[in-house]
Amino acid sequence: MITLQTVAELRAQLAAWRRAGERIALVPTMGNLHRGHLRLMEQARFRASRVVASVFVNPLQFGPNEDYERYPRTLAADQAALAAAGVDLLFAPSVAEMYPRGREGLTRVHVPGISEDLDGAHRPGHFDGVATVVSILFNLVQPDVALFGEKDYQQLAVIRQMVADLHLPIEIIGVPTERDADGLALSSRNQYLSAEERARAPALYAALQAVASALMNGRRDFDAISEEQCKMLTSKGFDVQYLAIRRADLGAADAATTHYVVLVAAKLGTTRLIDNLQVHVT
Ligand code: PAJ
Repeated sequence: MITLQTVAELRAQLAAWRRAGERIALVPTMGNLHRGHLRLMEQARFRASRVVASVFVNPLQFGPNEDYERYPRTLAADQAALAAAGVDLLFAPSVAEMYPRGREGLTRVHVPGISEDLDGAHRPGHFDGVATVVSILFNLVQPDVALFGEKDYQQLAVIRQMVADLHLPIEIIGVPTERDADGLALSSRNQYLSAEERARAPALYAALQAVASALMNGRRDFDAISEEQCKMLTSKGFDVQYLAIRRADLGAADAATTHYVVLVAAKLGTTRLIDNLQVHVT
């Protein structure tokens, strides 16, 4: 596996691969890789002849009081994991390489509507930071296919919308969420949890499953269903930011909806966790 830190080297390598007719996959990450990330790499391998991964903790997508400074940076371990996963190229630029003019006055990509909802309402500017860095990476790598986790369901929707609106010739693949045995979705942020918090954390997935069962059992009183699970989470010490029952396209659900997604964001101590579950009813 080649590791490159500069835009110029990345462009030169990609140009050579494109001349050779390679089909290129891109998997953007912020590093501190776990089994969820590696599942994306595995799926990328199936879909392309060259797999490019990026590791970049993107300051644009963190709010002023968020965890940019303490976000875990583990490049050596990430390199080893990516090489073992069959990744061909790791792009690991510095902030100065990605944003040479600094952040002030930088051109931003904004996907209206969807970016202000749910997580966007609780993290103002977050999805602009994501859309901006992902478009820069798309421009640099010009992949045929790019892979994102369903764990970040709204992020995947923002990226799909951006790709459609800008007519980018990139196929976007969503990859199902990898979980620990107790149901907790894998996340780099799980390591912020104390042992005691970690033991309580699976309640988040249990709440999603309870909503799914209610929908499967024919209940359509969405507000009451989510209120019950919010109460359950609050009683377990979670500070719930939202628990929403939506259509799979994130529009408002109604009784005729057959493909739902249930999305939750909650803080456990100082750690903010998100998760979601898709539910098909027939
Ligand atoms: P990061 O949180 O590092 O996640 C990188 C990719 O891995 C995302 O597509 C995310 O949805 C996916 N992922 C994370 N946990 C997962 C899990 N448990 N199962 C399956 N996939 C999982 O998301 C970002 O980075 C950034 O916002 C980024 C897109 C790189 C832009 O900076």
